[in-house]
Amino acid sequence: MSELHVVILAAGQGTRMKSSLPKALHQVAGEPMVEHVLRSATALTPATTTVVVGYGAGALQAQLADRPGLQFALQVPQGGTAHALQRVEPLLAGQSGTLVLLSGDVPLLRAETARLLLATHRGAGAAATVLTAVVEQPYGYGRIIRSAGKIVGIVEERDASPTQRRECEINSGIYAFDLAPLFDALRTVAAGNAQGEYYLTDVVAAYTRRRLPVETLIVKDPREVRGVNTRSELSEVSTIMRQNKNAELMAAGVTIVDPATTYIDEQVEVGQDTVIHPGVLIQGRSKIGSSCEIHASVRISDSEIGDGVTVNNFCLILDSHVADGAAVGPFAHLRSATRIGQHATIGNFVELKKTTFGAGSKASHLSYLGDATIGVNVNVGAGTITCNYDGQKKHPTVIEDGAFIGSDSQLIAPVRVGKGAYVGAGSSITEDVPAGALAVGRGRQTNIEGWADRKKAERAKT
Ligand code: UD1
Ligand code: CA
Repeated sequence: MSELHVVILAAGQGTRMKSSLPKALHQVAGEPMVEHVLRSATALTPATTTVVVGYGAGALQAQLADRPGLQFALQVPQGGTAHALQRVEPLLAGQSGTLVLLSGDVPLLRAETARLLLATHRGAGAAATVLTAVVEQPYGYGRIIRSAGKIVGIVEERDASPTQRRECEINSGIYAFDLAPLFDALRTVAAGNAQGEYYLTDVVAAYTRRRLPVETLIVKDPREVRGVNTRSELSEVSTIMRQNKNAELMAAGVTIVDPATTYIDEQVEVGQDTVIHPGVLIQGRSKIGSSCEIHASVRISDSEIGDGVTVNNFCLILDSHVADGAAVGPFAHLRSATRIGQHATIGNFVELKKTTFGAGSKASHLSYLGDATIGVNVNVGAGTITCNYDGQKKHPTVIEDGAFIGSDSQLIAPVRVGKGAYVGAGSSITEDVPAGALAVGRGRQTNIEGWADRKKAERAKT
């Protein structure tokens, strides 16, 4: 088996995006386009993977830093797609085999399709194989020119004749090439076109002239090769990716009440019989268990939710973990590696930051719990605040198993409430509470008998 090399073109600015960000860094379903493309590339297990960067090269390289085996070719200035591929020649010197070229602005391509392209190319022993699609609206794409059924050239929108413009078979910008004739052929490409650029698409006509075999593979689903040149196309591609993800989850046994308003990133996992209500966003590397209920208007990002969890309306859950059977919200905010134990309850208007909250514990109303370690079966009364910040440093609060924190208490950190201890409502706790003790840290109540009547009498005199 000959060796495989993948190249991803991502040097273009994407002028039509009207952005300071390089086009390949614009996000589709929560991830930069180039990441989606790279995933398809990786699935091919190539010998080398090269990303051609140019506009915003630093930002792109930072995004893709520490990927093992990934190399970069720099293209400055950007003289067209053929010019871009030429920049890879020194990196592939002495290599042979097949080069699969992917485009940083075609993020929906499935790995299976790339594999099929490779198989078709190798099977036919072609010098080049072009992935094409038959679309209803070919505007803006390069058109496939055939003679007696065989591809003989590709002509760009701007250079096409009115007849050629009516052609509905388009170039996806994705190809397989035999490395042997490729770089010599690229040197023959001229820039005599409407854009004054070196077009990779001209290689097809060059090969045809030299009688090198060029093949095509027509994709079944043309949506897969949808290119992104504008922000409108970015949103269209995002919608397609989202619809695919929702369909895949529904097929696997997840109820999505309103797919049109449900935004689930590609890498997210959701278990069977979980119900997702409208307006829910599940992002990043999140993992949701089975038989959960995620109510409307919830955002969960990079978090893990166990089985049988209820997330009530309007919750924000970031970088956190919620164990089986717990209930969260409405209006709860969990962040920075917070861990909620099994069957725990986090109620409305409760915020937890970097806090471990034990199994079966409850904080049902109006609390801030930050930098805290809270044991099992603890009751945190309404309005409890951990005062974790002294203006300079953050300090920890520990509440041991079975403790009871009366409502409207402040726990001034660093502080520890021992096992089974009670804190009287309205306390300011500044010192550790021993296990089993009752701590009351508030002013004693004084009742002044008859005060109201005396006051009234005084007022009547003046
Ligand atoms: C290109 C194809 C067109 C095809 C379409 C599919 C050419 C000449 N045209 O057109 O036939 O239908 O893609 O989406 O190839 N790039 C560089 N360096 C450059 C120019 C571009 O790296 O100098 C990269 C871009 O970042 C992008 C890709 O190549 O990822 C395609 O470039 P773009 O300018 O979007 O080409 P299209 O006009 O869409
Ligand atoms: Ca494009």
